[in-house]
Amino acid sequence: MRRRAIARAPGRVNLIGEHTDYHGGWVLPAAISLGTRVEVCLRDGAQVIGRSRELAEVAAGLAAPAAGDWLDYPRGVALELADCGRVPARGFELRVESELPIGAGLASSAALCVATALALAAAAGRPFGEAERAELARLCQRAESRFAGVPCGIMDPWAALFGRPGAALRLRCSDAWFEPVALPERLELLMVDTGVRHSLRDGRFALRQRECAQALQAARRVASRDLDGLSDVTRADLGRLASELPPLGLRRIRHVVSENARVATLAEALGRGDLQAVGAALYASHESLRRDYQVSCPESDFLVESSRTLEGMVGARMTGAGWGGCTLHLVREDHGARCEAALVGRFEARFGRRPRSWRLRAEGAARLLSD
Ligand code: GLA
Repeated sequence: MRRRAIARAPGRVNLIGEHTDYHGGWVLPAAISLGTRVEVCLRDGAQVIGRSRELAEVAAGLAAPAAGDWLDYPRGVALELADCGRVPARGFELRVESELPIGAGLASSAALCVATALALAAAAGRPFGEAERAELARLCQRAESRFAGVPCGIMDPWAALFGRPGAALRLRCSDAWFEPVALPERLELLMVDTGVRHSLRDGRFALRQRECAQALQAARRVASRDLDGLSDVTRADLGRLASELPPLGLRRIRHVVSENARVATLAEALGRGDLQAVGAALYASHESLRRDYQVSCPESDFLVESSRTLEGMVGARMTGAGWGGCTLHLVREDHGARCEAALVGRFEARFGRRPRSWRLRAEGAARLLSD
């Protein structure tokens, strides 16, 4: 049995389709060059030890209850791999190096899970083949939701495992049908980190899901047909629901329905190279997340609003789960540096601290580094 393996998985930027994946809706993420490298060494016994360049060292028994620290993600992955008989339930040591800011909406936890799974399976002599990537994405989603307690959707591990250079993935989360959508070469993904942090484990993410489950029950009563999830609600249904649902439920549904439509709008606009329509869809998505899904924050709103007046700026929105994290600004590449400097400067003048920022492009998927 091989005992040591190394893998790297990318983070992702979601261009549009926010808070739709766990409703079986549409998303449009791209894998990015920032990522996480994980080295796994199998150990005798059941102890898991996590060392990281960026985070505190942690250790726990493989099957001990979740502890609320970063090792929960690799342990969740290892337990899922053991559950399906892929690797024996045993201890391992993990060395992690990550360029991804944590809790910033760039899917750092999915990158950690995917890289751990690839490395751990390879170290145990059962590496995942190309044809098993979909299964692996689902396994990583289960690890995050069952063990780490974050009821997330499939988008992040999918982007990490299927990302392509120069393209985003238009993914329907109900059945994981997807196609690449080429991004115009003259565009850059400018990310600005508000520095405001959320933990998806703090209950806010789960609260949105409970609110939506209630709204779905109400929608089922009102609509005269079966609804599998909120993504089955149509614009026509919305009109009828307006008078029947409490305002909060209506807002949540309105976001999901309109955001699903915007994924199609944005993908088609990118295809035609219609940057005005691209920008309009991005700003509309932000507005819907701010007003209807209520997951933005003043710092993100400020960066998005500030974008509107910048030359070369195509459009902007918060990206990821929200409550802080990064904003995405789609910029014409010849204006990238100037837009970045302007946004960073304006943010610093307003909030008194300098935000981190990156100018990124869509990159390829996770892979084993050791063979
Ligand atoms: C987090 C989750 C994803 C998705 C986004 C919001 O990143 O992990 O599954 O729900 O939030 O779009």
